[in-house]
Amino acid sequence: MYLSTLITLTLAGAACAKPIKKIKRQTIQDTYDFIIAGGGTAGLVIANRLTECPSTRVLVLEAGPEPGVVANYMYPGGNQNLAGTAIDYNYYTLPQKNLNNRILPYHRGRGLGGSSAINGLYYGRGSASVYDHWVQLGNQGWGWDDLYPLSIKQTHFNPPNLNDSFDHSFQTWDPTAYSNGELQIAFQGYVPDSNVGFIRAGEAIGIPIVNELNNGNNTGVKQGTGCFDSRLRRSSSYDAFYKPVQNRTSLDVLHYASVTSIQFTKGSNGASRATGVSFTDQPTGQFITVNATKEVIVAMGAFNSPQLLMISGIGPQAQLSQNGINPVHINENVGQNLNDHCVFSIMALVEQTASTSSMSVSASTLEAAQQQFLDSLTGPYTAPSGITNGFQQLSNATLRAIGAQAVLNAGLVNQSHVEFLYESLFYPSGLAFLPSSGGTSSTGGTSSSAYYVPQSNLSYISLTASPLVALSRGSVTLKSASIFDAPNIDPNYYSNETDRVVAINAFKDLRKLLAHPAIAQFTIGPNNGEVQPGLAHIPANASDDTIFDYIKANTIPNWHASGTCQMLPEADGGVVDSHLRVYGVQNLRVCDVSIIPRLPDVNLQGPVFMIGEKSAQIIKEDYNLQC
Ligand SMILES: Cc1cc2nc3c(=O)[nH]c(=O)nc-3n(C[C@H](O)[C@H](O)[C@H](O)COP(=O)(O)OP(=O)(O)OC[C@H]3O[C@@H](n4cnc5c(N)ncnc54)[C@H](O)[C@@H]3O)c2cc1C
Ligand SMILES: *[C@@H]1O[C@H](CO)[C@@H](O)[C@H](O)[C@H]1NC(C)=O
Ligand SMILES: *[C@@H]1O[C@H](CO)[C@@H](O)[C@H](O)[C@H]1NC(C)=O
Ligand SMILES: *[C@@H]1O[C@H](CO)[C@@H](O)[C@H](O)[C@H]1NC(C)=O
Ligand SMILES: *[C@@H]1O[C@H](CO)[C@@H](O)[C@H](O)[C@H]1NC(C)=O
Ligand SMILES: *[C@@H]1O[C@H](CO)[C@@H](O)[C@H](O)[C@H]1NC(C)=O
Ligand SMILES: *[C@@H]1O[C@H](CO)[C@@H](O)[C@H](O)[C@H]1NC(C)=O
Ligand SMILES: *[C@@H]1O[C@H](CO)[C@@H](O)[C@H](O)[C@H]1NC(C)=O
Ligand SMILES: *[C@@H]1O[C@H](CO)[C@@H](O)[C@H](O)[C@H]1NC(C)=O
Ligand SMILES: *[C@@H]1O[C@H](CO)[C@@H](O)[C@H](O)[C@H]1NC(C)=O
Repeated sequence: MYLSTLITLTLAGAACAKPIKKIKRQTIQDTYDFIIAGGGTAGLVIANRLTECPSTRVLVLEAGPEPGVVANYMYPGGNQNLAGTAIDYNYYTLPQKNLNNRILPYHRGRGLGGSSAINGLYYGRGSASVYDHWVQLGNQGWGWDDLYPLSIKQTHFNPPNLNDSFDHSFQTWDPTAYSNGELQIAFQGYVPDSNVGFIRAGEAIGIPIVNELNNGNNTGVKQGTGCFDSRLRRSSSYDAFYKPVQNRTSLDVLHYASVTSIQFTKGSNGASRATGVSFTDQPTGQFITVNATKEVIVAMGAFNSPQLLMISGIGPQAQLSQNGINPVHINENVGQNLNDHCVFSIMALVEQTASTSSMSVSASTLEAAQQQFLDSLTGPYTAPSGITNGFQQLSNATLRAIGAQAVLNAGLVNQSHVEFLYESLFYPSGLAFLPSSGGTSSTGGTSSSAYYVPQSNLSYISLTASPLVALSRGSVTLKSASIFDAPNIDPNYYSNETDRVVAINAFKDLRKLLAHPAIAQFTIGPNNGEVQPGLAHIPANASDDTIFDYIKANTIPNWHASGTCQMLPEADGGVVDSHLRVYGVQNLRVCDVSIIPRLPDVNLQGPVFMIGEKSAQIIKEDYNLQC
């Protein structure tokens, strides 16, 4: 049954006995087989796969707009200009007690495509051992041998254009790691010499040059792969998995539709069953409830998925009672165990050609770079700020020597331990920092500007470290029972002492990388061009405490929030089982980054695209959908 067809505004309805017909901006039904809450990275993969079965009716409800309202999302060089736009939630963390109480901006995609429409474009899959560990934790079917074929299936590799003057030595790939899938993978189009220098310099800190990182061993360095199509446009979940199938009659996708709660009914057996969701249709202002005959699938990301569960009555006792929420199922684990990677950088002054900074020196240079990209797919606008990442595996001996025995004890040996990132500009710049909410640091300030203020007419590169062990865990809790109040986000970075020693070691390695001649040759000025922190602030012989002062004042997220609805046995901290079914209720799953029980040793969109694919496979099997 259709509630209404086109927009109908019937005053006559008021005179009838029936309630006033709902005013709709487009046709939607009131019952679907599956309702997907959140049209982001994982959500649109699932929508695509489930509607491969033509009789399976799927509704996707997405809070934000279509990403094209911020057209720069498509372009590699536009990547620097997405923060704070209409497709970013622009969240903030709680004051971070181990980071001088700094409050950090936390970006999150808000719109079709979700964070895959605003992220840094790097594509990776991580090490096989991580997923095999998920299996050991109780998640049968989630090993590397299960996931890798799905990842191959959903991707396509676009070979680089070799007809230019760049050094293509490290643009290598294993063709068997990709197929004819939807998600488009490619190298960046513009490769500054210092980028190639970064790859060669990996040897200074034991990072070998390898041919491929996406086939199960994520230790090494090469030219990084990004989510780009053959015309170097972003391949987001929206572009890859939604646009090609948008005309399927079994698929309805509403944007500007914020899900406000999950509806439950109690069956005769006493179990609560999800029957549908309520949402606010923003263009009409209406509150609408839609039913799902099979399931509600929550894919709202690491912050909003646990928030929706809690608002709907599934969560810690205290969270529900403090906010006056009727309990459906008490589970103390919902929103807990937030697990994230974070980063800090050092910055160096370099020759103009070694950087892409000069592209942004004025409005006219930026306009020219953009025009060159649009005309000929060349020039600095074809490069995102950084997708060349080196992954370092520390030896057992090193881990012991730096005081990271806990990494061995936790079994995190057979993987990379630190990600080193190269950026062809000053990263992060001031926008990434907020003043402290009370703390002080040894430098007397709390933002990066206490160290150095980048000059708009000079050129820089940045070297960034992101410890991948990440034993610290934080939480997502409610500010109120409304989905429109941002949740409290506490990544709790560096609460685990092991994360600190790994980070301090990584800071020392950043300076070794910068000092390697392959990079140092492009720098200007003393100390390999290092302008931040500079030796005046952090001397070469600085104590570990002094180094950690710098890290505290300069850490920002690597945007890998996960774990808030972990896939684990409930007694071990879980919220969903290995079929992603939410404990304690029926017909409800969570299928996104929040189910990750232990972080992969890589950036997360590759893993999340795999999770989307795997989720759809599980759901099809559970309902015996043959397509
Ligand atoms: C700034 C940034 C840079 C990053 N860089 C990289 C990178 O370079 N490489 C990499 O691999 N990974 C990167 N990541 C991480 C990666 O993009 C994310 O881990 C991944 O996209 C998360 O996917 P998801 O499906 O779980 O959530 P999302 O893709 O965030 O999707 C969640 C969706 O749910 C919607 N939603 C939320 N609340 C509601 C509601 N109430 N009703 C309806 N819809 C709702 C949101 O609007 C969003 O569209 C980055 C992330 C960010 C934010
Ligand atoms: C490393 O992990 C892979 C994948 O789980 C496994 O096949 C291999 O045996 C492991 N190697 C060691 C030395 O543990
Ligand atoms: C390579 O590029 C040059 C200059 O941009 C152009 O003249 C030439 O035709 C190109 N060759 C091929 C094979 O595309
Ligand atoms: C992964 O690759 C690195 C670098 O080549 C190598 O040292 C390591 O032994 C490899 N690990 C596995 C499990 O094969
Ligand atoms: C979907 O339908 C529209 C309108 O009929 C059409 O313009 C578009 O090309 C179709 N898209 C695809 C991918 O088939
Ligand atoms: C939706 O489900 C609820 C609960 O089962 C039911 O009361 C309601 O009638 C259903 N609405 C429609 C339109 O099927
Ligand atoms: C490193 O330590 C782990 C855990 O103690 C052990 O399993 C592994 O064999 C060790 N590796 C080497 C090369 O000694
Ligand atoms: C950059 O601008 C400053 C301030 O105008 C000026 O002093 C300096 O010479 C400029 N440097 C370069 C390299 O253009
Ligand atoms: C740090 O992590 C290890 C391994 O998970 C754990 O044993 C230890 O208790 C943690 N320490 C703190 C302070 O959380
Ligand atoms: C570092 O070196 C300086 C100058 O040589 C010296 O004064 C200082 O005591 C040293 N600091 C440490 C922590 O060793």
